[in-house]
Amino acid sequence: MRLLLQLLLLCDAVRWAISSQCAFSAAPAQLPKVLITGASGRTGHLIFKRLQREPHIFRPVAMVRSKGAARRLKKAGAAEDQVFVADVRDHGQVYESLASSQCQYMIICSGAVIVPTRRFLLRRLVARLFSRRGQKPPSEWRYKRGQAPREVDWLGTKNLIDSAKRVGVEHVVLCSTMGTSCSVYLNDPQNELNRVGRKRDGTGGDILWWKRKAEEYVIASGLTYTICHPGSLVDSPGGRRELVWGVNDDLLRQRRAEGGGERVTVSVSRPDLAEVLVQSLVCDAAKNRNFDLGSRDEGQGTPTNDFDAFFRSHSSDTDYSAGPVDEARAPPGYYAEQTAVAA
Ligand SMILES: NC(=O)c1ccc[n+]([C@@H]2O[C@H](COP(=O)([O-])OP(=O)(O)OC[C@H]3O[C@@H](n4cnc5c(N)ncnc54)[C@H](OP(=O)(O)O)[C@@H]3O)[C@@H](O)[C@H]2O)c1
Repeated sequence: MRLLLQLLLLCDAVRWAISSQCAFSAAPAQLPKVLITGASGRTGHLIFKRLQREPHIFRPVAMVRSKGAARRLKKAGAAEDQVFVADVRDHGQVYESLASSQCQYMIICSGAVIVPTRRFLLRRLVARLFSRRGQKPPSEWRYKRGQAPREVDWLGTKNLIDSAKRVGVEHVVLCSTMGTSCSVYLNDPQNELNRVGRKRDGTGGDILWWKRKAEEYVIASGLTYTICHPGSLVDSPGGRRELVWGVNDDLLRQRRAEGGGERVTVSVSRPDLAEVLVQSLVCDAAKNRNFDLGSRDEGQGTPTNDFDAFFRSHSSDTDYSAGPVDEARAPPGYYAEQTAVAA
């Protein structure tokens, strides 16, 4: 009976490996665990579900910030030891989750969440009443109090990395964003992403800066890492588009040079992004890589399904050595923040 079970597990592992075109040896007796932060979010949840569906390579463990989200995951079939409630801003909670879950891998999908301002909701209501299309200027979106990019994307990620180091996580995959690598976008205070949530005193926004700071922290940590900078995320089905590798925000610049043309689109479907993040853990060629991710429109090119080849076929990575961070334009407190990786 025991032998039959082992054989079944091995067959499933081989099937999964073949279908994903990545090299797996055999299903280990004790499955390695992957902690997914932001597992109640759109990308994080897709990763959790995907790994639950194929439970022969990794055991997914969700980190969510609310008890409600934890309840929903358990109702959907997650086991008690697969769900941890932690706010990434709270170092103690983060460490406790990592230490108790004993995860060897981590995929960071948590990120500051935007909510509409009251003014925006009012304008939309008025526009609806008078049948006009509502507009969404960036200044009308905000982050929840205390949950801006500095707190979630920077300090939260820092907490995750510090704890990952302490418990000996083997590989961290960080989902960042396009726009953090090239000074044209990063150092532009008027960039529409940087402007979101910025208060009068200059704090509260600048997501590109804080995500960039988190990326540098991951690299300096000494942990094996993969940093992916996807463009704008859409909820279309996965597996239908050719994915495009970029570095140094060249896809964004290319689009700008083409007058916004979508020949190589900077958008990625969340299921495709989720697959790339998972495959980053199993493809050797994804180790210590740092890249932008875009995709071609459906029907153009060949849909990407061989991820090992995808990682292997690109040898260039985003280059931080030039240090495009412009001190004069940095958001308040940027340089005062502790950057050394905690031992
Ligand atoms: N949206 C885009 O177009 C885009 C483009 C490029 C990159 N990205 C980045 O890609 C990642 C995934 O994006 P997404 O749109 O799939 O994410 P999402 O749906 O907005 O989910 C974000 C997740 O982060 C969690 N979170 C926020 N603050 C937290 C905190 N203090 N402690 C613990 N968890 C916290 C949220 O928890 P709750 O469910 O409790 O709110 C949620 O699960 C994010 O880092 C995002 O910045 C997004």
